[in-house]
Amino acid sequence: MPEPAVAPRTVPLAAYTTLKVGGPAELWEVEDLAGLREATSAPFRVIGGGSNLLVADAGVPERVVRLGRSFNDVRAWDGSPDVWLGAATPLPGLVRRAQRAGLSGLEGLLGVPAVLGGAVAMNAGTRFGEMSDTLREVELFVDGALERVPASALDLAYRRAELPPGAIVTRARLRLTPSTPEAVQRYMDRVDAAREGQPKVKSAGCAFKNPPGESAGRLIDLAGLKGRRVGDAMVALEHGNFVLNLGAATAADVLALVEEVRAELAARGTTLELEWRLWGF
Ligand code: FAD
Ligand code: EPU
Repeated sequence: MPEPAVAPRTVPLAAYTTLKVGGPAELWEVEDLAGLREATSAPFRVIGGGSNLLVADAGVPERVVRLGRSFNDVRAWDGSPDVWLGAATPLPGLVRRAQRAGLSGLEGLLGVPAVLGGAVAMNAGTRFGEMSDTLREVELFVDGALERVPASALDLAYRRAELPPGAIVTRARLRLTPSTPEAVQRYMDRVDAAREGQPKVKSAGCAFKNPPGESAGRLIDLAGLKGRRVGDAMVALEHGNFVLNLGAATAADVLALVEEVRAELAARGTTLELEWRLWGF
């Protein structure tokens, strides 16, 4: 009998999300193609940094696939501007290393606590820049095999990437622009300043996408909803589009709160679409 490529364990997904809510699932941490094949031989979901997820208190019945250390290339990267990087590479480290190497293109993503695969899957960004600015190609695991796809095939738009059904981003090819560490740092300072008003405690970033030309956070603020609570879930006082877990929030609390906010805004004529991905509801 061959050794199994990956050993699953049942874990609380709260530990794998930035919001720190969510029940159990079978976690399959994979390091190679054999592991990917084995882990995806039954229904699955894929988790990155867990920074855009609201996972139900009952967890999820599907396997949860997570790319392991061998997909983290933050240290292996030699600073060349055209580079393939593993999808488990943490974005904060990448942004920092690019700055040190004097490479421009990622600095707008300062403060996004994702891993590369999740940032590609969401086309993460800020008004200072998004993943699509530098993404040239992705390596996908689909139907048991790896394939390379140009970024132009992913229909990247505001917080959107069209991946083939069931695809796992395993690596991404980025093309950065030579600049200087000082110039990149200056731009990062501006991004940092723009994020100053965002809360630092447990959250999953903005709950809702911005309606065209508007800030959902500003509208939620204008509606007087900051500080609104359900259990230990609270609309942040600093920014209306952040929902915080004050400590003991459940996923049910968080969901009830975002639905209240959505209903209040709907009553004022604004339709809000969730940016978060909901699992298990
Ligand atoms: P996860 O949350 O784990 O997953 C998100 C989705 O991507 C899921 O559907 C998942 O299945 C899918 N996915 C993950 N990895 C892969 C993969 N390898 N292959 C295929 N699909 C995959 N977002 C912004 O865009 N801009 C911001 O400024 C921003 N600021 C934030 C600030 C804070 C404090 C926090 C907590 C979040 C913020 N976010 C922001 C939200 C979040 O960081 C982004 O949505 C990010 O892209 C999520 O990446 P992740 O790796 O955490 O993915
Ligand atoms: N504002 C308020 N009250 C609030 C929040 C915002 O008046 O409670 C005002 C601000 O003063 C500012 C304007 O609204 O004049 C825009 O606010 P901000 O700069 O915070 O930008 P945003 O549109 O609310 C977006 C992204 C963030 C990203 C920032 C910075 C979305 C949904 N949100 O927020 O992304 O970090 O810009 O570029 O697109 C995320 O997606 O998770 C996220 C955090």
